[in-house]
Amino acid sequence: MTYIKDLSKFEGQEVELKGWNAQKRDSKTIVFMVFRDGTGFCQAVIDLNNVGEESFEAAKRLGQESSLSVTGKVVKDEKQIGGYEIHVSSLQIIGVAEDFPITPKEHGVDFLMDKRHLWLRSRRQWAIMRVRNEIIFAIHTFFQQKGFVQMDAPIFTGNACEGTSTLFETDYYGEPAYLSQSGQLYGEAMAMAQGLIYTFGPTFRAEKSKTRRHLSEFWMIEPEMAFYDLKMDMDVIEEFIQYVVSTVLENKKEELKALDRDISFLEKVREPFIRMKYEDAVSVIKGEKDVNEKTSLQMLAEEEAELQAAKAKLQIEIAEREAKIASGELKKGEINFNQSKIDKLKNEVKDTDEKLMNIPVWQNSAKNFKRGDDFGGSDETVLTKMFGQPVMVYNWPQEVKAFYMKEDETDKGYAKGVDLLAPEGYGEVVGGGERETDIERLKRKIVEHDLPMSAFEWYLDLRKFGNVPHSGFGLGLERLVAWICGLQHIRETIPFPRSYGRLLP
Ligand code: 4AD
Ligand code: MG
Repeated sequence: MTYIKDLSKFEGQEVELKGWNAQKRDSKTIVFMVFRDGTGFCQAVIDLNNVGEESFEAAKRLGQESSLSVTGKVVKDEKQIGGYEIHVSSLQIIGVAEDFPITPKEHGVDFLMDKRHLWLRSRRQWAIMRVRNEIIFAIHTFFQQKGFVQMDAPIFTGNACEGTSTLFETDYYGEPAYLSQSGQLYGEAMAMAQGLIYTFGPTFRAEKSKTRRHLSEFWMIEPEMAFYDLKMDMDVIEEFIQYVVSTVLENKKEELKALDRDISFLEKVREPFIRMKYEDAVSVIKGEKDVNEKTSLQMLAEEEAELQAAKAKLQIEIAEREAKIASGELKKGEINFNQSKIDKLKNEVKDTDEKLMNIPVWQNSAKNFKRGDDFGGSDETVLTKMFGQPVMVYNWPQEVKAFYMKEDETDKGYAKGVDLLAPEGYGEVVGGGERETDIERLKRKIVEHDLPMSAFEWYLDLRKFGNVPHSGFGLGLERLVAWICGLQHIRETIPFPRSYGRLLP
């Protein structure tokens, strides 16, 4: 058995492939099948004259997603999916599928989410999952090469880490326990034993809102580094993201192409990231400070004008094609061709309208942003749209950040936290910072945040025995996958998403 990913090594030779019929079209004597085997896609050409009547008829009847093995010659054809074709000489049907629910036509998102177990087979989902896998491998490689020790933090926890409002409570032998919101506190303990560590595990947030950025269960990577300050922390974040993005660009070209990903922004990741304090970022968001001689409000006005112009152009083309059809001078094939173009253009108008609807929302949040507040999704979008590359915002007002963040001695009231915001409107993908080492201040913050002191005694021990400056951060894997793949919504980044209102499949 051969895999599609290796076809280039077998050009001109006979091979056997085992896989599924992703899609097919047929004529009287030839079936053209898009064949997939998990490692890739290729076209299988099944010719009546080569396979004989019985096999040909069986292939013709074969429903989408039926499984089969095909034997045939590998022929290079750059125009075809995957770049190679199989000219089939014989085939064997393995499992017949009838009425596969996901057809090549358009389906609504709710329907596809209900059929997630089958949707995963589509080429787009296939590509996303392979990029996700590459990202995971690159993350481990990055940290392992630097001598970080991977640790597994517990999932049942007795204390909150990121505030009490998003905790999932469970019954733990009659006591309340929470599903972990973050492995960080345990990571800090391990860093005092190992120096450099990282966690890579599932984390849970009870977020009762449906946004394109939130999941209830997501995977987080949390390095923790003894003797690192905020500046060193930011250096690691930058090098880490640069490494992961370049690795995917290098190794996952076919998948990014299948996703129609415009990689120009990803390529800019190689340049140094923007670093700015919260207060400066606020000035940019509010339009008080310009970037490359443009304020946020001017940028948004320009974007609006561009979208309006694009929409007008689409509408003119629609009108022209409609007039052609109405003229009555077109042949049937030409009418169909124009009609399908019109449908596509109308979809583009709809997309443009959706984008246009966001602009006033962004304008409002930019104008009305209250200094001292945390950033919302729109604020992050506005800020990152001002730059081509990722932005690290640091020194946040203490009130909006977690209890463990270190106060900046030279910038009172500000915490030495950092958020990495991805460009193209993706927003926060990493949150981290330097940890508070002053035990008295920590105790005060625990009280202020309404957290039970008894659950944190063990954590406070870390400050009593060989206390050292240390820093770390958390990367949300699914947010990174969404950005790298250019996805509109986080639900496609994980095989079986868990979010408010979704537990099946
Ligand atoms: O900013 P957060 O809440 O930070 C922490 O949990 C720290 N303990 C990390 C640390 O310093 N070790 O979460 C970190 C990242 C966010 O930047 C985001 O990418 C992701 O986790 N994240 C989510 N991803 C998907 N759905 C959610 N509901 C998320 N909440 C956070
Ligand atoms: Mg955060």
